[in-house]
Formats: sequence, C-alpha cells, structure tokens
Amino acid sequence: MCGIVGAVAHRKVGKILLEGLKRLEYRGYDSAGLATLEITGIQRIRQAGKVDALETALASVDLNGTQGIAHTRWATHGEASETNAHPHMSGHSVALVHNGIIDNYQEVKEGLTTKGYRFETQTDSEVIAHLIDSHYQESRNLTKAVRSAVESLAGAYAIAVMHVEHPGLLVCTRQGAPLVIGVGIDEHFIASDQLALTQVTNRFIYLEEHDLAELTAETLTIFDEQNVQVERTVQSFNITQDAADKGSFKHYMMKEIFEQPAVVKRCLEGRINQGRVLDVMFGSSSKEILDQTKAVQIVACGTSYHAGLVAKYWIEELSRIPCQVEVASEYRYRKTVPLPNTLFITLSQSGETADTLAALRKAKKEGYEGSLTICNVPGSSMVRESDLALMMNAGPEIGVASTKAFVAQLVCLMMLTLALARRTGLSEEIERNIVLGLQSLPHAIQQILDLDKRIRSLSKHYMKKNHALFLGRGVMYPIAMEGALKLKEISYIHAEAYPAGELKHGPLALVDKEMPIIAVAPNDDLIDKLKSNLEVVSARGGEICVFADQHVELKEGPSLTVLPVGRIQPFLEPILMVIPLQLLSYYVAVLKGTDIDQPRNLAKSVTVE
Ligand code: G6P
Repeated sequence: MCGIVGAVAHRKVGKILLEGLKRLEYRGYDSAGLATLEITGIQRIRQAGKVDALETALASVDLNGTQGIAHTRWATHGEASETNAHPHMSGHSVALVHNGIIDNYQEVKEGLTTKGYRFETQTDSEVIAHLIDSHYQESRNLTKAVRSAVESLAGAYAIAVMHVEHPGLLVCTRQGAPLVIGVGIDEHFIASDQLALTQVTNRFIYLEEHDLAELTAETLTIFDEQNVQVERTVQSFNITQDAADKGSFKHYMMKEIFEQPAVVKRCLEGRINQGRVLDVMFGSSSKEILDQTKAVQIVACGTSYHAGLVAKYWIEELSRIPCQVEVASEYRYRKTVPLPNTLFITLSQSGETADTLAALRKAKKEGYEGSLTICNVPGSSMVRESDLALMMNAGPEIGVASTKAFVAQLVCLMMLTLALARRTGLSEEIERNIVLGLQSLPHAIQQILDLDKRIRSLSKHYMKKNHALFLGRGVMYPIAMEGALKLKEISYIHAEAYPAGELKHGPLALVDKEMPIIAVAPNDDLIDKLKSNLEVVSARGGEICVFADQHVELKEGPSLTVLPVGRIQPFLEPILMVIPLQLLSYYVAVLKGTDIDQPRNLAKSVTVE
C-alpha cells in the first residue's frame, strides 16, 4: 500500500528518498514520485509504474535539495497515472504526500472550488494540498495551516508537507495511518514504515494518533491532539541490512520460506524453560489477564486469519476454552456480543492493517477482559494499543505473500494455547511433549525444505491450470485455505479450499482433469475419512496430489501423487504441512513468470479499508 518517505538534512536528500522508496516497494504500489526543495523552488518528478521508472527519470535531473518528500501510490481514487501520483501541489508553493483515504474529500473539494482552486487530479489527496494552502493564506504559518486543514478532514491520513516559503521545515501528522520519525545526527526523516529508513538511522519515534510534528535538520517538535508540545520516546532498532536483503535468493518470498527454521528458533528463544512455556513472554500484566480468561476472540485478515483458525482448533481442544475467529473487516462493523472474561486477540504481521486495528479499537470500547496482539513489528499501532503484545520475532517480511510470519504466528499461538491450557488443567506431560515438538520444528521444517526439487518438478503440472481445489479436514482445513490463498495471490490461479467432507455438497461437480486437487493429510483420527473423500474424487477422474504424514498409507497411481512430509508432534502438523504448499505456489508462480514479491493489485500492509 502507499508509502511515504521524507527527509530534512544538511546533505542532498534525493538519493535517500529514492532508496527509501525502493525499500517500500514491497508494500505494493503502482506509481511513485518525489519532490525536493531547490533554490529555484519545488522540483517534482513522478512516474506511473515502478520506482525504477522514477529512477530513470531522475537520472537527467540535477537534485541538490536538502529536504524533500517522496511517495509510492497504490491507486484508490483515480487510475495509476503520472498526474495522480504524489507529491501533490497547490500552485507552486505546497507539496504534500498522503497515505490513507479522505472520506469527505468531495465536500471539501466543492468548498475549495468555490474559493477558486482548480484540481488537476482525480485523487482525494490533492484536496489536502489546496486545503493547507487556503489556511496558509490566513496565517502564513505552515504548522498552523496543516493543523487547521486536518481538522476538517474525515477519514484516514498520514501526511508530510513542505512549503516553498519555509525552507528547512517539514510538517507531518497522522490519523489512522502510521507515521514514524527517523532521528539522525543533525537530520530528521519521516516514513510510513521504519524499513524505509534503516539505511540512515536506527532510532525511531512512532507518532501517536493526531500527533503533529515539525522537523528541521536539528530540531523535532511534536504536538499532541490538544496541540500541547509532548515528548515521545525514541526507540532503537537494529534491523540489519541482511534482514531486509534478498541475499542470494531470487525472490524475497523464497528467502523467507527458507528462513523458517531459523524463524522458529528465534521465536522460541527465551520463552521456554525446562520444557514449559514462560508466561512472562506476554508482558507484565499477563498473569492477571490470562488467569481470568474464560473465552477467546481472535480477529485478523488474510494469512493471519488462517493462523487464527488453526489456533481455534488448538485452544478449544487443549484448553477447553471457547474460541471464536473472525475476519476483521466483518467483525468491526457487526453488532458483536462479547462473552464475559474474553481475551481479545489481534493477529497481524504488520500491526497496521486498518481493519484489524479498527476491530481492536472497537473491542476496547466493548469491555473485553484484555487485549493481546501477536505481531511482527515492534512499535506498530497494534503493539502500542494492546494490553499485551507477543512479538513474532520473524524479522522483516518483505514478500507480499506471507510465509514466515504465518509460521511464527502459529508458534506464538501454540505457546499461548499452552499458557491458557495449563490454567484449565492440561497435564504437564502433554505440555512438555508439545514443547519438545516445538523445539524439533526447525529440523522438521528443514527436512521439508530439502524436498524442494521434488516440489519444483511437481509445480510444472499446475502452471497450465486455471483452477485448483485444496482439501483438508479438521485443523488441516485452515492449512488448505492458506495453500489456496498462496497459489491465487502469486500465480493468479483461481484456487479454493474446502473441508474435505463438504466436497459432496457442491465442489464435486467441478471435478475433472482440468481441476487438480491438492490435499493435506496428517495421520490423525480423520485420515480414513479423508481417504474416502479422495477416492470419490479419483472415481470421477480428478487428479490428486497429497502432502501426507509419512505414516499415512496411500498408494500412488496415475491420478494420485503422494509426497510424504515427515513427522512431528501431532498438534504441530499444521505448521509442517503449510511449508510444501508455500513451495508449490512459489514454483508455479516462477514458471508463470509473475511478479512474485509484489503480485498485481495486492499490498503488503493494507492501511486503508
Ligand atoms: C495483506 C497481505 C497479506 C496479509 C494481510 C494481513 O493482504 O498481503 O499477506 O496476510 O494483509 O496483514 P497483517 O499485517 O495484518 O498480518
């Protein structure tokens, strides 16, 4: 989704802005632009398409400005064109970049039109630039003009602004979209995501809702919603270059799939002692909240939602605590009925997904027992706004299709399940057994990664298909859903997941040679039922590929391919089973030649509704 970078320094900032935009590419976007303040005025360059196109356009421009703002745009209002790309300007004096959506932009636009402003773009963002200018005409004070302008905006925004009459000053503010300030030595930076700035600083300040910041190279002044000057904590993060680099891998997604054994190790580090999970990982007030928990409500989007669905099976079976899971975009607008003593959990890689964040805010008003976020980005909105936070420690995830974050979420969710289940009578023996399983996961995942070549050759079979059906039963159903999501996200093949028992209620009508079936088969109580489901498919000419626990007996035949994926503690099998599905999708997408790390129309961090 849209990305913002800004800088004010004593050195030229053109290259810093461009590098920042490159680091934000992973979020998904369709045009890019930047503006610097030069001696001659504001110099703006924009391009439809990739940052590479912007870089090419910049090659013939001499940028000497020591302050500037830049943007990657993911089109919402108006097509992805050079004209609609940010920065937007009001005349030659105000330049602005905006993330978010302004709900009342039409109304504001009408007011500005009557004042004589003319609009060049179809965007909602351009109105903010003119609105700031109209307030500036009254006060000649940029900070005041920005504050007054946003007071009449409804919707979500993170904006960064500069004015030709105020060299050396950047003003930024946020509501409902993230903004981080990078603190350097005699220089300051702005970004929608700290990853954009790790080449220039490791010190960050996360702006709170409605904060407004004035930045010069030397100074940073932050005002809160009441316009009172406030201090916000500077946090240091050492994200190594390596963590956000592809290394020798062709795609981030591949790198992230292969990182998973290390991710699991990191996620468990310091959280297990003598075979048991440590409550302390959830934060200082966790004991009270977990002791009181009698029900769990999980809310999430996309891949994170699938992790929540897996956790439902675990929590209800191991702790006997009722657990509900819902997609955030539904939950936030529904009249919900929280059960007494319910722990409200958000799952989010980014911690900024607009629907999940809105669901958290709604839940806080509805009086849940407490809120916990399982998240991968320290300092993100969800981490800051939840009572408890458990970090996934997966390291930056760049590929739009989530892989390592899913696995880290599952590890965190199993640790949470054990912490809850221990309180409702789970035996120490079972807990130790599952913990041992968690500790053996890195090795088990590595063994599946070693099947890489076999899965690659299997993928040839799918590249010419237009559809695929994924089947699973029980806890493997959400894994089948995740497999289908991966395939459709990056290879653009239509894929659906069904609980295998539902086949006969509809999807069986679709089964023929052109509709491959991919099933995940653990060695559990439901395996015989799954086998009968598969026979029904075979009898109708369907071609099946099964990723199976090595103890599942299935005879390969012309229309049945079986790929054994090793063994692990039975509760942890979903974590293992998702790996071959990630690899399969990846290789199908490689063969199809799609843009794997930035699939068309998708964004990594969905910060608008
Ligand atoms: C987008 C991403 C998905 C992700 C989902 C939820 O759709 O493309 O990969 O699963 O958002 O994101 P979150 O950061 O909240 O986990």
